Amino acid sequence: MTLLIRPVAETPHLPTIAAWLHAQWWAAGGYSLEATEAFLRRATGPAAPCALVAEQDGIPLGTATFDTDDLPSRPDLAPWLASVLVTPEARRQGVATALVRAVEGLAAAQGVRRLWLFTPDQAPFYAARGWVRSGEEQYRGSPVVLMHRDLG
Ligand SMILES: CC(C)(COP(=O)(O)OP(=O)(O)OC[C@H]1O[C@@H](n2cnc3c(N)ncnc32)[C@H](O)[C@@H]1OP(=O)(O)O)[C@@H](O)C(=O)NCCC(=O)NCCS
Repeated sequence: MTLLIRPVAETPHLPTIAAWLHAQWWAAGGYSLEATEAFLRRATGPAAPCALVAEQDGIPLGTATFDTDDLPSRPDLAPWLASVLVTPEARRQGVATALVRAVEGLAAAQGVRRLWLFTPDQAPFYAARGWVRSGEEQYRGSPVVLMHRDLG
C-alpha cells in the first residue's frame, strides 16, 4: 500500500477528519464540530500540534496527531502521540503503523527525546511497535495505560 501522509490542514480532507475525530472523541469531551475543525486548522506543524492524515489515491484512510497535551491528569508530560484513528475498512493494512512512525519522525525532527501516549485498550499494538508501559492513569473516569517511546 502506498500512503501519502501529510498535515490535515494542507489537504481537502479537513472536514472529513474533523467529523471522524468529533464522532470518536471530541463530542464526548464536550467540544463542537467547529472547535474540532478549528484545532485541525491550526495543527499545521512541524512543531506540535500537527494533525496528520494518511491517504491513498486521494481517499483519507486514517489520522494521528503530534500534540502538546492530551491527558489532563498528567500536565507534566509532553509531547504526545494522540488521536490515532483508521477507518474500519482500511484496518489491518499498516495504516496506523505508518501514522505512528510519521508522528515519531515529526517528534524526533523537533528534538523530542521522549514521546507519550495513553490508551484504554490498544497497549499491545503500541508495545509491538517499541512503546513502553509507564503506568496506569484515569481518563474521564476510566483506567488507561500510559506509555512512552524514547526517540533516538
Ligand atoms: C487501533 C487502530 C488505530 C489500528 O489501526 P490499523 O491501521 O488497523 O493498524 P495496523 O494495520 O498498523 O496494525 C494492526 C494490525 O494489523 C496487522 N497488519 C498490518 N499490516 C497488515 C497486512 N498487510 N495484512 C495483515 N495484517 C496486517 C498488524 O501486524 C497489526 O497487528 P498486531 O497489533 O498484532 O501487530 C484502529 O483499529 C482504530 O482506529 N481503532 C479505533 C480507534 C482507536 O482505538 N485508536 C487508538 C487509540 S489509543
